[in-house]
Amino acid sequence: MGDKVFYVTTPIYYPSDKLHIGHALTTTMADTLARYKRLRGYDVYFLTGSDEHGQKIQRRAQEAGLEPLKFVDGIVATFKELWRRLNISYDDFIRTTEPRHMHAVQILLRRIYEQGDIYKATYEGWYCTPCETFFTERQLVDGNCPDCGRPVELLKEESYFFRMSKYADRLLQHIKDNPDFIQPASRRNEMISFIESGLEDLCISRTTFDWGIPFPMDTGHVVYVWFDALTNYISALGYGTEDESLLHKYWPEAVHLVGKDIVRFHTVIWPIILMAAGLEPPRQVYGHGWLLVEGGKMSKSKGNVVDPMVLIDRYGSDAIRYFLLREMPYGSDGVYSEEALVNRINTDLANDFGNLLSRTTAMIEKFNQGVLAAPVASEPLDEDLKAVARKVPAELDAALNNFEFSRALGAIWRLVNRANKYIEETAPWALAKDPTKQPRLQTVLYNLAEVVRQATIMVEPFMPGVPARVWQQLGLADVPEALTWKSLSVWGAIPAGIKIRRGAPLFPRIDIKNLEGDKTVATEATVPAAAEATEAKPVEEEITIEEFARVKLKVAQVLAAEKVAKTDKLLKLEVKMGDEKRTIVAGIALHYQPEELVGKKVVIVANLKPAKLRGIVSQGMVLAAVDDDALSLITPEKPVDDGAQVR
Ligand code: ME8
Ligand code: MG
Repeated sequence: MGDKVFYVTTPIYYPSDKLHIGHALTTTMADTLARYKRLRGYDVYFLTGSDEHGQKIQRRAQEAGLEPLKFVDGIVATFKELWRRLNISYDDFIRTTEPRHMHAVQILLRRIYEQGDIYKATYEGWYCTPCETFFTERQLVDGNCPDCGRPVELLKEESYFFRMSKYADRLLQHIKDNPDFIQPASRRNEMISFIESGLEDLCISRTTFDWGIPFPMDTGHVVYVWFDALTNYISALGYGTEDESLLHKYWPEAVHLVGKDIVRFHTVIWPIILMAAGLEPPRQVYGHGWLLVEGGKMSKSKGNVVDPMVLIDRYGSDAIRYFLLREMPYGSDGVYSEEALVNRINTDLANDFGNLLSRTTAMIEKFNQGVLAAPVASEPLDEDLKAVARKVPAELDAALNNFEFSRALGAIWRLVNRANKYIEETAPWALAKDPTKQPRLQTVLYNLAEVVRQATIMVEPFMPGVPARVWQQLGLADVPEALTWKSLSVWGAIPAGIKIRRGAPLFPRIDIKNLEGDKTVATEATVPAAAEATEAKPVEEEITIEEFARVKLKVAQVLAAEKVAKTDKLLKLEVKMGDEKRTIVAGIALHYQPEELVGKKVVIVANLKPAKLRGIVSQGMVLAAVDDDALSLITPEKPVDDGAQVR
């Protein structure tokens, strides 16, 4: 055996929209593991990409009036730009529309078909397009998708089926024999009961749309998008080509990082596909929780989607990465708010880490003319500091191997904070006044520099932009042997005599007052009523016809439309209903250009209490149908005069 290998993946995200901070979370976790394993000398392969086929993408492209490939090209470019800005060190980016991928999917299907695990039948059942998932009648919850709560569509079409049921026992055995396969344990238990409740064969082809990979045995069908997507993890390694060297090197050492929404695909469907094809299941699947925002899950229709690009512009990528990894609890949901982000920056980054560096360099400059001298005798306080430091690498390693990012950072911060306390305990400023205490002062300053060095090495996988700036200040940029993981085991790897160059604070403090009125998330009520009804978990409260009649709905014609300055989502509409004219602010700018609205007849809530949005008084609300990515204005189906009532 040569080098230890590590293969880490993110989900391949749907290019139906720009990515949000939740997607950035999974990718940051994967990047941190990849960087950490590289630091530890592993041969690492880090894969990410985009999942470009399927009905949802086809519909989104249609709405945008573009060919699907044109449509996704534009969005995939924004993915790559985000990963560049977030310092994501992927080795390969796979797009499922690339020939290398399509070819691998076809080879894989043929192999499974030839051994008799694929048969033709009629699929009759339900489909959730936003989730791209088939459901049986009994799986639905109140007639809606059990995963996302949105309406499902009835399908009846001839399809090819994959004999998943045949592999249920083998999969259960695999899960039981490999306790680390599904992490965290709670999701493992969920999957075990899911499989035990009975696996059905999976429909793996569709005929009612065509944006997909042609089914190799029958080109009137396209491959089901999840079968297509999951294969990315081996198509990127050259599966089915002349050169399978990457596959042989990295498979099955794969660690798939995914959100909890798609654990089932990765721990049930994917391992069975691999088994049927004579390949081993991936080593591990970690399903992390949701990153929630005020108002619950992020969604376009709620207008609470947090754009990571805006945050990177404002706070820098290291701070965003730190926040995501530190704030997200192991295995369960976490919450994003800009206040919490700023708090982490001010407390952990500016106060704890940044101050340790700036106090240390400032004292070395002031008391020692910027030159670090060798330590002299060691005292119990020093030994205590070293003892804390000694424990950190092992704890960090254990935590990261278990996907406990927050605990790993906590271990580093224990050392950082111990060092900050050490400054108070040793009071170097007092030592500096007493010439007989010179040796003691040298030792204290050296130990502080040493903690900064060690903490910085360990922080790199989490905040890759930090080390270069610290080495610059600490004068270690040209001392590579003091910057390796191995050097952590030596207290004293900094050569005496190095010259310190104090620099700007690593993480300037942020004035929380500046946040008011300057949010990254639209919190105004810019949402049409129809949106909330489909989005929130339905509270099935009934209302009477009289209660409904209190809502005055009317047809209005749009006379003029313009974007509201400094917002992405808001349009200001001038509408007329008979003789009456009104101004309405609507959160639809991501879906409609102002010019395409002029002349349109829309439905508005005419007796809504006026509300001020961005300084504009909005006299009503425009109704739209919303499902996750799509938003469509409600408009009369036949010509009617504006002002007409809607009942
Ligand atoms: O499911 N919190 O793509 P997708 C945390 N194409 N993570 C979140 C999140 C949130 N609020 N929202 C999204 C797909 N994610 C398929 C994957 S893989 C073979 C195919 C992350 O664009 C999380 O990792 O819907 C989740 O699993 C993924 O984005 C879903 O991305
Ligand atoms: Mg999704």
